[in-house]
Amino acid sequence: MTQIKVVKRNGSEKEFTATEGLSLMEALRDEGFDELLALCGGCCSCATCHVHIDDATLAKLVPVSADEDDLLDSSEHRNANSRLSCQIPVTDALKGAVITIAQED
Ligand code: FES
Repeated sequence: MTQIKVVKRNGSEKEFTATEGLSLMEALRDEGFDELLALCGGCCSCATCHVHIDDATLAKLVPVSADEDDLLDSSEHRNANSRLSCQIPVTDALKGAVITIAQED
């Protein structure tokens, strides 16, 4: 179980416990964060699961793949902390993470 803090688009915050074995996108969706559309279901083809991740956590994650990088480039809201949440497995690396849901493109 991994404790994560989520900052929603309106700035409100909520903590929840994510289950390992899911992707971060699936964990967020299961927790009811419906502003994260995840239209492609996690196939790395829509970029609607875009999140910003705090620096300390970001450094512990698997690197961005070429496909993820291309998709993130399609977002006006990309910054140095951008990731697609469907490409991030829930592991200990996310303990204490602060995940900000990116603004909608
Ligand atoms: S859910 Fe579509 S790219 Fe992540």
